[in-house]
Amino acid sequence: MEDIFNGAGKNYAYEIKGGVSLKGDIDISGSKNAALGVIAASIMVDGVCTLENVPDIVDVHVMFDLCRSLGATIDAIDEHTYRIDPTTINTYKASGPLVSRIRASYYLMGALLGRGGKASIRLPGGCNFGTRPIDLHLKAFQLMGAKGATPAEINSGIVNLEANPLHGARIYLDIVSVGATINAMLAACKAQGQTEIINAAKEPHIVDVANFLNSMGARIKGAGTDTIKITGVPVLPGNFTYSIIPDQIEAGTYMIAAAVTNGDVTIHNLIPTHMEPLSDKMREMGYQIEEGDESIRVYRANCEDTIYPTSVKTSPYPGFPTDLQPQTVVLLCSADGQSRMHENVWQNRFQYVPELAKMGANINVYERIAWINGKSSFRGAIVEATDLRAGAALVCAALEAEGTTYIMNAQRIDRGYEHIVRKLTALGATITRVNHAPEYNEEDTEA
Ligand code: UD1
Repeated sequence: MEDIFNGAGKNYAYEIKGGVSLKGDIDISGSKNAALGVIAASIMVDGVCTLENVPDIVDVHVMFDLCRSLGATIDAIDEHTYRIDPTTINTYKASGPLVSRIRASYYLMGALLGRGGKASIRLPGGCNFGTRPIDLHLKAFQLMGAKGATPAEINSGIVNLEANPLHGARIYLDIVSVGATINAMLAACKAQGQTEIINAAKEPHIVDVANFLNSMGARIKGAGTDTIKITGVPVLPGNFTYSIIPDQIEAGTYMIAAAVTNGDVTIHNLIPTHMEPLSDKMREMGYQIEEGDESIRVYRANCEDTIYPTSVKTSPYPGFPTDLQPQTVVLLCSADGQSRMHENVWQNRFQYVPELAKMGANINVYERIAWINGKSSFRGAIVEATDLRAGAALVCAALEAEGTTYIMNAQRIDRGYEHIVRKLTALGATITRVNHAPEYNEEDTEA
């Protein structure tokens, strides 16, 4: 990871020679989105904590550096284990360029507010798949007594929050929002009294952040349901070791890569129940999905059998994850007939479709619905990873394609996929990281 992280801001491409069926076994890394929430939560602890199964990806290193910029002491014990000591934190301000490199920097608002009643944070960056407001996060802080949480009070892109004291509140989220749920939960942990988050998001990483906080001494009940109740505590003693859950989206991406290459891959260290929305769709299409306790094998009983089209609608957990939408569109291209993908979470998440079209996909997009006309025969092309998951979708298509594909701005993929080159190579793929044409030098964005 060191070389990738130090090369942050530099652009590179993936060269993939496709047409090889992936075969073998692969291990899933810790969840990116859980790790980002848990690391932010760790700065609220009043002692030290140790995190295990931390994914070695760019976004996590950016989050560590953000916490270090606040004064936290973070030491790597090994590639996936970190000891975090937030007692050395000496500021509540984070407004440098690191903040805009990752969306999840907004968790520092809730964490710092909960920690010391003050937070001064630049508005986060993020992938450009529609407007990404944080009005619900701010509404939650306001209900908990924070001043500075109205849009009019945001000064030159900096949100200055102050609560004296921060108190519990009944927070109804108008839209199910992962970020607002976690942010409200963070702030509420140390607020005075009880907080109730209604219409909360239920994603696995929300439960993971809650489990982490509870193991540090917080009192959170109901995470994973649509009502979360938090009783504030004055101190989070910490001194605990916590292991991050496996990455649902990484696992789903490899399931799809195995399927579209007519491969036979067993994916280990995942939680099969987290994969159900995808596993069920894949079964419906005719793929074989065999679940173990912590593994899933993906293969085709007979490569001559029909792959059936289907329709998919993204929605908050336990619905079909939007972060698997682009990869699933590649999967639907393998079906014999017309499929439909309805993007129900983000306004504009089909920006990668023209890139897939360069590889031979036949997809018509109308507002939030894509009609996928299969079966497509992908061929190698020069394409661009417009964002993290779009890039992952292009990797799946490139692995299936005849010929060589160059995926530009592949550094965006490394934000969320640990050792993707090493993992795919172990399954028989031919993928290398290469330098690329100088015209591809846009700034990074993040999911
Ligand atoms: C998180 C994930 C992202 C994933 C998304 C949905 C991280 C770091 N990112 O993003 O990969 O795609 O969940 O699963 O975990 N909304 C508002 N107002 C708000 C907040 C959200 O209107 O204050 C809307 C958004 O525009 C969007 C929907 O709610 O349409 C869901 O967004 P949200 O769940 O908040 O996404 P993120 O937490 O940003």
